[in-house]
Amino acid sequence: MQEQILQFLKEHDGYLSGEEISHSLKMSRTAIWKYMQELRKVGYEIVAVPHLGYKIVSVPDKLFPWEIQFGLGTKVMGQKIVYEETLTSTMDTAFELAVAGSPEGTLVCSESQTHGRGRMGRTWISPKSKGIYLSLILRPKLPPMETAKLTLLTAVVVSEAIQKICGFEVQIKWPNDLLVGRKKLAGILTELHADPDRVKFVVVGIGLNVNTQSHQLPPGSTSLKLETGQTWSRVSLIQEMLKEWEQWYSQFTRRGFEPILKRWKELSVTLGRRVRVSDPSGVIEGEAKDIDTDGGLLIRLDSGLILKRMAGDVMWAQ
Ligand code: BTN
Repeated sequence: MQEQILQFLKEHDGYLSGEEISHSLKMSRTAIWKYMQELRKVGYEIVAVPHLGYKIVSVPDKLFPWEIQFGLGTKVMGQKIVYEETLTSTMDTAFELAVAGSPEGTLVCSESQTHGRGRMGRTWISPKSKGIYLSLILRPKLPPMETAKLTLLTAVVVSEAIQKICGFEVQIKWPNDLLVGRKKLAGILTELHADPDRVKFVVVGIGLNVNTQSHQLPPGSTSLKLETGQTWSRVSLIQEMLKEWEQWYSQFTRRGFEPILKRWKELSVTLGRRVRVSDPSGVIEGEAKDIDTDGGLLIRLDSGLILKRMAGDVMWAQ
């Protein structure tokens, strides 16, 4: 009911009288007053002026599901949102929800994580209410070998969303880093649950440094605030990501990987460079030649031999 009142207030410019709210939402004036108190408790600034009514003055900087869903307009992505102040990792919660049958497009987000994780067993530092820490459940009809495509798809999604909201281009370093210059702005983590021949579900996690300050970041990282000098709405960024996801994922289902690969290549800072790629099988060095049709990186060694890597850490050799 609180959410309905909020929506009603947001849809009307200026003041709304208790009587109007009471009439439209069919609840007593006392109940409305109580709900207003509840909203104030979670950080909404609502003024009440005699004879005029109520008006929202400010909205808290929180990732409340009803804020993300307000005016979202997607059909699948973000239709279900699970939100907590703190989680161990949004990946764990999303995984549990997916096992329990949560639908495709379910989003898990939190203000902070106590055990946020990155690839290769790294930690993802998650200072409270500064960054975006989220995981999305997908249920693609794919063989497990092809899930790397979803990491590339998500990199395009995040880059496009930042471009739309903040107005600058964020580049992609294969497979999962989003960079500004040489600094890391965001990372993507893809985890899956699969039978040998079929994916049951994929959880895609994004960590994006939004309003994070330099002392809260690991070396070599940056945030949107540090790059632009201004504070950004995390809710708007998440909404844009969900819209981009909806569009790119449905295109992927209908038309395959080609359009994603094309956009990914335009945003890539990896291709054409001399790179050193390390994975559990060892380290190789050569020129990053291309991305294969399944999302793997093709590296041409000095001997001319071309090797493919599906995962790994890329460092620029020059
Ligand atoms: C990486 O660059 O290694 C990937 C980082 C992914 C971090 C995000 S934050 C939200 C989600 N929950 C996690 O524990 N990790 C991902």
